[in-house]
Amino acid sequence: MGNLVRTHSCNELKKANVGEEVVLMGWVLRRRDHGGVIFIDLRDKHGITQIVFNPEINSEVHAKAHQLRSEWVLAIRGVVDARPDDMNNAKLATGEIEVRVDELRILNTSETPPFPLDEDVEISDNLRLQYRYLDLRRPEMAANLIMRHKAVQTVRNYLNDNAFLDIETPMLTRSTPEGARDYLVPSRVNAGRFYALPQSPQLFKQLLMIAGMDRYYQIVKCFRDEDLRADRQPEFTQIDMEMSFVDEEQISKLVEGMIGKLFSETINIDVKPPFKRITFDEAMSRFGTDRPDMRFGFEITDLTEIAANCSFKVFRSMADTGGTVRAINAKGCATFSRKDLDDLTDFALQFGAKGLAWVKMKADGEWQSPIAKFFTDEERARIAAALDAVEGDLLFFGADKPSIVFQVLGELRGELAKRLDLLNKNEFNFVWVTDFPLVEYDEKEKRFQALHHPFTSPKDEDIEKLDTDPASVYSRAYDLVLNGTEIGGGSIRIHRKDVQAKVLNTLGIGQEEAENKFGFLLKALELGAPPHGGIAFGLDRLLMILTGSDSIRNVIAFPKTQKATCPLTDAPSTVARKQLTELHLRPDWKEK
Ligand code: AMO
Ligand code: AMP
Repeated sequence: MGNLVRTHSCNELKKANVGEEVVLMGWVLRRRDHGGVIFIDLRDKHGITQIVFNPEINSEVHAKAHQLRSEWVLAIRGVVDARPDDMNNAKLATGEIEVRVDELRILNTSETPPFPLDEDVEISDNLRLQYRYLDLRRPEMAANLIMRHKAVQTVRNYLNDNAFLDIETPMLTRSTPEGARDYLVPSRVNAGRFYALPQSPQLFKQLLMIAGMDRYYQIVKCFRDEDLRADRQPEFTQIDMEMSFVDEEQISKLVEGMIGKLFSETINIDVKPPFKRITFDEAMSRFGTDRPDMRFGFEITDLTEIAANCSFKVFRSMADTGGTVRAINAKGCATFSRKDLDDLTDFALQFGAKGLAWVKMKADGEWQSPIAKFFTDEERARIAAALDAVEGDLLFFGADKPSIVFQVLGELRGELAKRLDLLNKNEFNFVWVTDFPLVEYDEKEKRFQALHHPFTSPKDEDIEKLDTDPASVYSRAYDLVLNGTEIGGGSIRIHRKDVQAKVLNTLGIGQEEAENKFGFLLKALELGAPPHGGIAFGLDRLLMILTGSDSIRNVIAFPKTQKATCPLTDAPSTVARKQLTELHLRPDWKEK
């Protein structure tokens, strides 16, 4: 760079700087040749400044500027000029000025990039990830990483101010049961033994409470080998926290303060705690899911009682055999076409529905519907009243076991909202979901599974029911849901050994297995464990919402693909046989 020292970023210069001599450094975003004068948009992570090469002012520098191409790296010295009024660019922070170049240094050239960085064109995800360092040069991607940095600093400041200690926990550890598969690391010095990468720091943060640390946090990588979706990555980041001597009220208050700060500092939105609360049971019955998007209506209504007497066999037999019949009212949607209805039926079938009965509400309570003939005038009136249905509305019915009806109608709500464009990205609708069941029955494995994780406390008044009716036991878990996404989850933990042993027993984890897997925790619970609880937020998910991105990948510098690969480094990769032998592994796959 010779003797040139950068004076400003590419997003800084304003009218007030006119006349100053400045030095800028950055990349060539685009070049325009306007009858001799060459304009270049010079870009860095902050923004863009227009620099100008005028042959009449400096012919030598102008001649050199002819060779410049996209993504070449420059240092320039020049003087800030005001743009003529009619050439101002209101979209750019630097849109009122340009820099007349007196000295140009080419710091590096670049081959033609594999995709253009200055246009809004569709680029395949694989190509973007393979050349991630180019993808990240694009201003919207740089903005996402800048916001991520700001978010992390805001959270740290808030937690530091509230007496939390930032403490690291091991990455090479034992399996932590969060419900996914583990990423395993074989041990060279301990033949046949494996570390697991943590699915979360759950057990360590509890041990830190037992160690008297009182308030802990960590912004920490977690690893889960699970099926990936738009809001899941195999390695992701949690804002993980734990507190001693607190209950649900104190935790939610503290967390709401943190979320409030996060939203005001990053996107200047005032989120107004306290957040709404809804129990798990209510969330399921009104929205069909434990992460309800409450930005729109279309709530689910139970019609089982009415259906039990109707002459539509499908509904009546469901009602008679312990199933349920429920419906949603898509307000004003009676204009949907036959094709819309067929598409929505196919959509419902994906989630296990056997059909999707519908009714278009006509004048005078008349029904246009394939099932109209099965209902008496009185039944029609009762259903319309229950659903608050009037002319022009469209009703959808699900009849099946409750789990299927909830899922189908819950998904249908979301799909309708998408089609009708009801999902306002600028609305931030928070809700705490509380009072989860402690366990759910896993039909495949024929045993109970923890709904959160096995260290979540049952409600005090339900502990006795663990022996007699585990399915009816409620827990002290809570999730924070934002616009239909679970952004965080936590609980008050078990701090007594007898209760922990009982819960593990309910989960079918016998004494020996419990000792083997979590003996260290059970022992610690016998040595003065304080009451404690905590929560963890998905940082990547939060940023996805803060930045308005539709994929979690857009807020992670180097994310993985749907198949958990990294096209940039080509991980996971093969390794030499020798390495495997050292690790006491004998592969039985064929090498390509
Ligand atoms: P949980 O498993 O609910 O709780 O995880 C906490 C939050 O982490 C986010 N999250 C993910 N984000 C991206 N990709 C993933 N694969 C992924 N999995 C989870 C979610 C979720 O709400 N130890 C407990 C917390 C506690 O009890 O304190 C835990 O890990 O936003
Ligand atoms: P059918 O009598 O099978 O022609 O069904 C009449 C209507 O009821 C069709 O619109 C089906 O999609 C719908 N239907 C069938 N079974 C169910 C069900 N279990 N739940 C909701 N709708 C159903």
